[in-house]
Parts: sequence; C-alpha cells; structure tokens
Amino acid sequence: MRTKLVVGNWKMNSGIEETKNFFENLIENSSLQNINHLMQVCICPPFTSLNTASQLLQNSTIALGAQDVSVNENGAFTGEVSISMLKELKCQFIIVGHSERRMYFKETDSLINKKAIKILEHKLTPIICVGETLEQREADETNEVIKEQINGVIENMSNEDLLKIVIAYEPVWAIGTGKNATSKQAEEVHLFIRKLLTIKSNINVSESISILYGGSVKPENAKELSEQENIDGFLVGGASLKVNSFISIIQSF
Ligand code: 13P
Repeated sequence: MRTKLVVGNWKMNSGIEETKNFFENLIENSSLQNINHLMQVCICPPFTSLNTASQLLQNSTIALGAQDVSVNENGAFTGEVSISMLKELKCQFIIVGHSERRMYFKETDSLINKKAIKILEHKLTPIICVGETLEQREADETNEVIKEQINGVIENMSNEDLLKIVIAYEPVWAIGTGKNATSKQAEEVHLFIRKLLTIKSNINVSESISILYGGSVKPENAKELSEQENIDGFLVGGASLKVNSFISIIQSF
C-alpha cells in the first residue's frame, strides 16, 4: 500500500512570525490527531523560515521539507543552499523541478535529475515535479511532454532509487489559477506516469511510488481527487498557507 502524502508548498510566503503562528495553530488543532495514521504530512516553508519550523516541529509527526536545493555540495555558489544545510534543519523532503523553477530559473530535466540523485545519496526524499503547460495540453501534447520529463528526471536511477522518490504531477495551467485538473484528467496522467515508471522498472516498483497531484487543490475539490486510484496525495500551494484549509485537505484521505 502506498503512503498517502500531503505536502504544503508555501513558495515565497510566510516569514518567521507567520510560520510561528501557523505551526502553533496547526499543532494545537485537535482534528490533526484524528487523521489517518498511514498518512504523512509535510510542510515546505521558505528557507528563512525553516529553522523556526524545525524547532516547532521537534516532537511532531509532521515532516519538514525544502522547496529546492543546490546540486552542489558546498563552496562558491552565491545564494545557494546545500543538502547538508537542509539536513541540519531536519528536512526530510525536498521539492525539485517545480514548474516555477523550470519557468523562471530555466531548470532542465537534466539538472532536476542531478539534484534528485544527490538528494537520494543523502538519504532524503526528492519530490520531483512534472507537468504540461496549457499550450501543450491544448495541442494534445500532454503525454509526450510528461514522458520526456519523467524519463529525463529519473535517468540513471536504479529500482532501489525509484522506490525512494515521490513524483508530483502539477499541470502548469492549474497552478495558482483556481482552475484544477478534473479528477478524470488528473487520474489519466497519474496512470500514464505509473505506466512510464513500470517500463523503466517493474510493476512492483511503480506500484510503490507515491504520485501527488498539485494545482489549485482546495478543500472543495480534494475529496474527489483523493478518491482516484493513482492519486496518492497532494502538493498544495495557496491552500496550505491557512491551517483550516490545509487540515481539511489532509482529511480528504
Ligand atoms: P496552488 O495550490 O496555489 O495552485 O499551487 C500549486 C503548487 O504549485 C504547489 O507546488
């Protein structure tokens, strides 16, 4: 059985004060005690809020994650943050290849693949993002784009490596737009991704990999999306910034 995972990606939101308020409210919230015990919850604040979050999560089952990492181990890379720095802060997950990094910072599948392999070498979990643009979907290129991205980001990974990754399908047209993929559209792509993973490994491996959906996930649409066979969790942007909406998304599983 695949682990259900709900991850909050705060993007460039929430400084130290907001982070404190969020976690104090989240940890105190009694509904969090009743969530499915097979479920993992993770929050990825911006780098500058990680230390605060890490301290507040010390005795909690909620995991901490980062939104990106350098492909380099250390040295003269101005503005970059290394994996060992994130490990010191007790991060367990690291998002790589988010479409905003692909779009604004020109990250390629090859760089994302190198980052993911580094993360695995350090025994943390990469959450590797893929997704098509609106233009690509309308030109009927979704499968082609997803295939190229998946094959690129998992290159040189052994079956053992693949068992330790998480994939997030985030259609670019659904991110921050309020317009989510329908459960049918999302399930189709998730199933397609699982088939690609089977071709690269085998059915036992591909059936064990958690595939998250991201793109305008809200309390109102989470339940239906969560009921799809190949949707194993969510990568949530805007709705993860508020305790109540984040908890109600978690409770959809
Ligand atoms: P929204 O949930 O705000 O659409 O963002 C999705 C996302 O990009 C999560 O990584």
